[in-house]
Amino acid sequence: MDFFLREMEPALDKAMASLSKFVGADPRDMVFVDNATVAMNVVAENIELKAGDEVLLNDHEYGAVFRIWRQKCEQVGARVVSARLGNFSIPETSTSDTSQRDLTRSVVESIFSSVTEKTKIIIVSHITSPSAIIFPVVEICREARHRGIPVCIDGPHAIAMRDVNLKEIDCDFYCASLHKWLSAPFGSGFLYVKRKYQQRLKPHMTSWGRSLGGRDERWQDHINWLGTRDPAPFLAVPEAIKFLEEVGMEGFRDWTHQLAQYARQELEHLFDTKAWVPESQDWYGSMIAVPLPASDIKKSKPNAMHPLQQQLWERFQIEIPISECCGQSFIRVSCHLYNTRDEIDRLIQALSQSGI
Ligand SMILES: Cc1ncc(COP(=O)(O)O)c(C=O)c1O
Repeated sequence: MDFFLREMEPALDKAMASLSKFVGADPRDMVFVDNATVAMNVVAENIELKAGDEVLLNDHEYGAVFRIWRQKCEQVGARVVSARLGNFSIPETSTSDTSQRDLTRSVVESIFSSVTEKTKIIIVSHITSPSAIIFPVVEICREARHRGIPVCIDGPHAIAMRDVNLKEIDCDFYCASLHKWLSAPFGSGFLYVKRKYQQRLKPHMTSWGRSLGGRDERWQDHINWLGTRDPAPFLAVPEAIKFLEEVGMEGFRDWTHQLAQYARQELEHLFDTKAWVPESQDWYGSMIAVPLPASDIKKSKPNAMHPLQQQLWERFQIEIPISECCGQSFIRVSCHLYNTRDEIDRLIQALSQSGI
């Protein structure tokens, strides 16, 4: 009880001071949550929608996030709209600055071409899950502010993989898990909320709704106290940041990008397909998704594991996601500090033997 009543809230503040600095935000605008899923549910709980309203996502968004918003919309007769980005129609020579600017413009335009006067919020990944693409979130948020539409960024893959600066992004909400690229414990994530939404913010579940340590009221109290739970994952976040910073953030990003680049080259060569992103660290970081060839074996039913994923695990003990986006299957390679070129070579060898 001494810990819960006297120590926990100041300890959370201390941990949040470190995290907020790492993501370029004011600690007063952030709260720890278990993961990005919880954060997104809190946002969905707090957006007022009525019949006929629209929530705009796009065809690269995460399945569970679609489901959260579909459920929210169904409750009130609103609807989810999915902007069509497809493969962005990436030009063959998209490495020059001009063609990258064109691509940014085309992504922003594709999203905003689905905006109507009924659009109440835009949900967009910072880095997409199935296609591993870094979205131009600064430009998307700028355009949305111009049109007066709030933006919620789904950012679990961006934390540590990118130099995230929430002040610069200037979104309305940002949802993240910290167990991915930051390697903080499972059960650590955060929600960023722009000031104008904070006072009215309701939690996704109800508990005391106030500080049990007797501190002055803060908007985060509702979410800091969700019954008696273990705050250890949150309190360990500064150690995870310290570890990566000691390794060197630039070094971490460069090393893991080089590995992802190597995986890209080898997979593109093997499959004779092209990843959907330009060859640039602005568009992909430590993770790359390469389309499987057209000869790809199909799944037996929609929720089944892709046969290739199952085969790679059973025959070669390689666990690797086969994702799907816009009707295309991808193999997605994630590279962290502990990965090596040898492992990518092993993957390529296994794929060659798997007969794809
Ligand atoms: C883009 C994206 N959004 C949301 C999530 C959900 O994250 P979590 O399972 O940590 O809540 C994921 C998880 O992989 C993701 O990739």
